[in-house]
Amino acid sequence: MDYSSFGNKLGRFSGITQLMDDLNEGLTNPDAIMLGGGNPARIPEMQDHFDKLNQRLLESGALTKAMMNYDGPQGKDSFISSLATLLRDTYGWPITEKNISLSNGSQSAFFNLFNLLAGEFDDGRSKKILLPLAPEYIGYADSGLANNMFTSVKPTIEQLPNRRFKYHVDFDALRIDDSIGAICVSRPTNPTGNVLTDSEISQLDTLAREHDIPLIIDNAYGVPFPDIIFEPVTPFWNDNTILCMSLSKLGLPGVRCGIVIANEAITTALTNITGVLNLAPSSIGPLLGNALIEEQQLLELSSTVIKPYYQAKALKVSQWLLNAIDDERFQIHKPEGAIFLWLWFDELPISANELYQRLKKRGVLIVPGEHFFIGIDDPNWPHQRQCVRMNYVQDEDDIQRGIAIIAEEVQRAYAEG
Ligand SMILES: Cc1ncc(COP(=O)(O)O)c(C=O)c1O
Repeated sequence: MDYSSFGNKLGRFSGITQLMDDLNEGLTNPDAIMLGGGNPARIPEMQDHFDKLNQRLLESGALTKAMMNYDGPQGKDSFISSLATLLRDTYGWPITEKNISLSNGSQSAFFNLFNLLAGEFDDGRSKKILLPLAPEYIGYADSGLANNMFTSVKPTIEQLPNRRFKYHVDFDALRIDDSIGAICVSRPTNPTGNVLTDSEISQLDTLAREHDIPLIIDNAYGVPFPDIIFEPVTPFWNDNTILCMSLSKLGLPGVRCGIVIANEAITTALTNITGVLNLAPSSIGPLLGNALIEEQQLLELSSTVIKPYYQAKALKVSQWLLNAIDDERFQIHKPEGAIFLWLWFDELPISANELYQRLKKRGVLIVPGEHFFIGIDDPNWPHQRQCVRMNYVQDEDDIQRGIAIIAEEVQRAYAEG
């Protein structure tokens, strides 16, 4: 079959497809230890709350009504309106209904945003999305219609006590010119759990304004919901910021609800794109989101149930890892948020990809780090082949069994070197 350029680019197997395939394999193979994908934890208190909420929405007829109607292309009005009020009241941001558009998951919002702001332009110019700190979210990597749509910058590495480290943006290495269409960061970062400091965000904002390009902040794990962030940082938005949020990590990935908070021009463009691609975003997530806001539980559950749950797990699982792999060459990125731990095996004689294959054969699924260094392939920088991402929120017995196997394989690999 002869495919178009679009077909060749998007129809081929990609890192994100591998990840979602593995996730599905884990769901169908009861023996697999799934430390790879981005499924959030099934927190009993959240599940209980969603059950009761669904029951109430079913009994009132609201659920069936939502399923039987298309919303407008911007997304469900009631949710957009209650969210605008919530953000205005919580942070004092000057947000109205004209600043919010919804999507079928934030993944599809990123696809639309990246291709809106970068790629080929009518006047012959081409632009890229700058990821100022690699490693960065694997889901961006194949989201460009044009080839090579991302450029990224290696981080500086701060060494911390107790075999911890933290990445920082290397502002000295950051080059912005008119070939850059937007800057994009996830905060907290998937895969590393890094949280960009207030100062880093403020510097990126200044750079974006100076070059008249937007700063996209991927807030899939951030504040005010789902609040999987363990550092006291200031939430950030202004009319040059595009803040992307999601209901997924609240525990609702299946409803596919993404939220983009941006200036009116960007909101209008995204709304028009949704009309073409989807007619309208799904109604179910916004219905639940609106109900959670009305009963004042969205922020309450985030800060009192979700955040403490993840924070306690991140600490516990990183300690298990450090105990199991007692080797100075093994370090963990300081867990500051998100649902992953980022493991660095310095001087590892095999690539992270080879380690992934060996672990997969033994039924343990993690994600090799190479995928996350989007736009960088530097043979002189071994770090990008020495890291793996693991999800720390699955069943604790599975995690412990998985860690024991990871420890064995890593020690075997070091012994080979
Ligand atoms: C950083 C980040 N951004 C965006 C997404 C996309 O999430 P969704 O499409 O479920 O909103 C994810 C999913 O794991 C993520 O980790």
